[in-house]
Amino acid sequence: MQVNESSLVGARDVGAEIGVIGAGYVGLTSGACFAYLGHEVVCADVDESKINLLNSGRIGIHEQGLAAKVEDGLTSNRLSFVTDPAEAVAKADFVFLCLPTPPRKDGSADLSFISSAVSEIARVMQPDTILVSKSTVPPGTSELLEQILARADVTDVAVAHNPEFLREGTAVNDFLQPDRVVIGANDQSVADKIAGLYANIPTQIVVTDTTTAETTKYVANAFLATKLSFVNSAAALCEVLGADVKDVMTALGHDRRIGAGFLKPGPGWGGSCLPKDSRALVNVAATAGYDFSLLRSALEVNEQQFDRIVAKVADRVVLEGARVALLGLAFKAETNDIRSSPSLEIAQRLIDAGAKVHAYDPAVTAEDLHEITGLVVESDAYAACARASALLIATEWNEFRQLDVERIVTLMYDHHIIDARNLLHRDLWVKHGFTYTGVGIFNSDEKLPVRVPARQARQE
Ligand code: UDX
Repeated sequence: MQVNESSLVGARDVGAEIGVIGAGYVGLTSGACFAYLGHEVVCADVDESKINLLNSGRIGIHEQGLAAKVEDGLTSNRLSFVTDPAEAVAKADFVFLCLPTPPRKDGSADLSFISSAVSEIARVMQPDTILVSKSTVPPGTSELLEQILARADVTDVAVAHNPEFLREGTAVNDFLQPDRVVIGANDQSVADKIAGLYANIPTQIVVTDTTTAETTKYVANAFLATKLSFVNSAAALCEVLGADVKDVMTALGHDRRIGAGFLKPGPGWGGSCLPKDSRALVNVAATAGYDFSLLRSALEVNEQQFDRIVAKVADRVVLEGARVALLGLAFKAETNDIRSSPSLEIAQRLIDAGAKVHAYDPAVTAEDLHEITGLVVESDAYAACARASALLIATEWNEFRQLDVERIVTLMYDHHIIDARNLLHRDLWVKHGFTYTGVGIFNSDEKLPVRVPARQARQE
């Protein structure tokens, strides 16, 4: 299917009425950005305290630029927040479903939030409303939603899928300057109308059927997860071969077929999406009769990566009784999200092995941590380092690059750095008497390669 240009131009002048169900990270970003683009947005969430907070202009999450967009929307009266979904959808031309699809025990996606919301709004939506799911859902869900809607006139509310590709920390930017917008609709005019909502954004729009759009989102995240497990495997290979993964990845990144992003080795990949969606896709594939063994391996390699980081610490100190300073709890920098955080996976393994783990994260507090016992959260990096034998960097916060090495030398009991993000300046720390262990790069007690200055490019 192609996007019909004339419908895009029309939408530029007329803001649509949009209802958003779910004011979580995806719903809030989408709602605030749609309002910024000139649409009238009513965002509903069952969590009354969240709605009160949002109506007072606070967002309650650490997301760059989002609070300002919410404030803009409230001030211009193009964005409002309600607790009753019926109120959000009553006048809407489009209803976006932005609800969680948490994993069940077997890894499959639990669609109960979505299906009960759709049952609730089915009778309230006006004829010709377009119901769009943004949540990541198993292929075939749009058809299921059509059945749940069960409107008297089955054709009057179209169901479409418009997956989000928002990274935490850069979600507003990703929404307003996307690499592409994917629209899954089984009717060209529906696809054109949804494309119209994005008319003010210069981007590639890929229009396809609903099942293909749903599959695209899963495959995109599975590809990123596989790429990262490949990079972490390549880092492990570099360690045994005595090669430098940083240079390997710099060289690979220049190849446009590979792409320069997502090439940094680390403590393993985490977050609210990649692990959950990868497991869900393995399950979707198996149910449909395909063994996605490559993706199963990517998940397995990720678990091994947590173990590999713990082994790096154990190579330097006897874990039983040792105090370990853990810097970073969020799954990546610029977020306070700890869902499926590699840092917590590693902390749990260290605690299980008898280590005393004292952690610090600029955005995560002790109250945020429910899932792990025995972890002490300190108020700054120096308190975490006091009397520690090893310092483990798990999240790539900029603030950790500026650590005062001289102060930390005096605070620590023993002097070992395990830098799971290759963040620190290795030579500086070694100069101050630390051993340094990175991921896929030369450790302090290995011979450094002879660095030959790069030759000038030959002038033809
Ligand atoms: C992801 C997808 O990128 C986004 O498109 C989707 O819609 C939601 O899920 P997010 O969960 O915010 O976004 O995390 P992302 O930035 O993709 O990072 C995922 C994990 O990979 C993190 O643990 C991160 O630290 C790790 N990572 C990323 C690396 O280890 N190395 C890299 O080079 C990049």
